[in-house]
Amino acid sequence: MSDPDLSFTTEDFLLSEKAVVERFTAAGQGHVFRFLDRLDWKRKNALFLSAKSVDLDLVARLASGKSLAPPAPPPEPLEGPFVHRRQALQDNRVLREQAEAAGLALLRGGKVAILTVAGGQGTRLGFPGPKGCYPVGPGQRTLFDIHAAAVAAASREAGKPVPWILLVSPTTEEATRAYIRRRGLPGVAPAQVRIVCQGVLPALTDEGKLLLEDVDRIATAPDGHGGCLKALRLTGTLAWLVNLGVEELCYFQVDNPLAPPVDPLFLGLHHRAKGQMSSKVFLKSDPAEKVGVVVCRHGKPAVIEYTELPKEQAERKAPGGGLQYWAANMASHVLSMPFAAAVAFRGLPVHRVRKAVPFVDADGNRVVPPEPNAWKHESFVFDAMPLSAGGVVMEVDRSREFAPLKNAAGMDSPETVRLLLQSAGKW
Ligand code: UTP
Repeated sequence: MSDPDLSFTTEDFLLSEKAVVERFTAAGQGHVFRFLDRLDWKRKNALFLSAKSVDLDLVARLASGKSLAPPAPPPEPLEGPFVHRRQALQDNRVLREQAEAAGLALLRGGKVAILTVAGGQGTRLGFPGPKGCYPVGPGQRTLFDIHAAAVAAASREAGKPVPWILLVSPTTEEATRAYIRRRGLPGVAPAQVRIVCQGVLPALTDEGKLLLEDVDRIATAPDGHGGCLKALRLTGTLAWLVNLGVEELCYFQVDNPLAPPVDPLFLGLHHRAKGQMSSKVFLKSDPAEKVGVVVCRHGKPAVIEYTELPKEQAERKAPGGGLQYWAANMASHVLSMPFAAAVAFRGLPVHRVRKAVPFVDADGNRVVPPEPNAWKHESFVFDAMPLSAGGVVMEVDRSREFAPLKNAAGMDSPETVRLLLQSAGKW
C-alpha cells in the first residue's frame, strides 16, 4: 500500500477561505474581509469562524425585508373555550383534578422534557456573565440553582430524571458550561441535562450591509428565544427527545425564578385539548406594564408586544370593568413535540430592532456609536402560537409564578425579585 499523500501546500489550506471571501464578495459583503492582511493567523481564524456563523442567503432576505415578520392583524380580545381563567378553574374541581391527573400521568410516563432558554445577552441587567449564574436567591443561590431544585423536584414526582435542555448562545455557552462544571446543578444528574447552543443573526446597516464589530468579528447577536426550536433541530436534540419517548416540551425563561418547570395542571389541560402550543398568562397589573399581552388574532391566541399596543387600547376597559387586554404573557409554554419539530423546520419570522451596534471605522478603529446605527434581528418563540392548531391559555397567580429579573435596579431587578421570592415563600 502506498503512503498517503501529505504534500499539502499552504494554498490548499487557504482554498476554502478564498472561497468564503468570494462568496461574501459575490453577496456584496466582501468588505468584512478588508482588514484580513493585517491579522495574524489567530485573528484570521476568528474572522472566518465568525463568517461561518453568517447565513448569506438569510442576510439577503433580511436586507430585502423578505424574512421579516409581516405586519400583524389588529388584536382582538382574548376569548374562546381554550381560555382558562383562574377563578373558573378554582371553581371547577373536577376539571382541575382530571387535568392534573393527566399531566402527572404524562410526567410519570416519561413523556415530558423541560426547555429553559438561557441564551440572552442580559444587557439590561449588566451582570458580567450569563443571567442563570446571577446569585439572586437566599444564600447566594443562583437562578440555575433555583431551577435545578425545581427540576429535581419534578424528577422525583416523575420517578425518573426529567430531561432538561438548557438553551445557551455563543454569548453564554462557554461561561455556562464552566459554571456547571465548577458548581453543578444541585439535585440534577449530568446525564439528564443537555446544553444546546442557539444560532446568531447579524446586525445590518440601513443598506443591508454587515458590520464588523472588531477587525476579526462580524457583528452578530443570539437569534432570539425563538431560535430555540431551530437549535433543537440542528443539534440533534429533537431526535434525542423523540428517542426518549418525549411528547411534550415545557418551556420557560431562565430569568423567572418562580416559573415552575412542569405544572401538571397546565400540562394536563394542554394535553386534553390535544394542544400544539399552550401558554400561561397572568392579570396585567397596570395598563402601562411593560409586558407582552396574549390577545386573539383571527380567533387564535397571539402575543402583542407592549411597544405595539397603542396606549388607548392598553387602557381600554372590558364590559366587566377590567382591562380588555388583560392577559400578560408569562413566557411559559407547553409545546407538543410534533409541533415543535414542524416549527423547527419551518422557521419563525424575524423581527428587527434599531440598536447602537459598535463597529470599526475605515481605519480599523472601534467606534461605540452614541445613537442607534443598525438593525439587530431576533425571532420570538411566541410567534409560533398563531401557527398552532390548538392549545390552551391558562391564567395563573402572578405572585406565585412570576418574578422576572431584567434590570439592574428599579422594576424587575434583583431587589424586586427577592421580595417576590420572599412573599411566595421561596426564601
Ligand atoms: P430577554 O428578551 O429579556 O433578553 O430574554 P435578555 O437577553 O435576557 O435581556 P436583555 O434584553 O439583553 O436585557 C427573555 C429570555 O429569553 C432568553 C433569555 O435568556 C431570557 O431567559 N433568550 C433571549 C435566549 O435564550 N436567547 C435569546 O437570543 C434571547
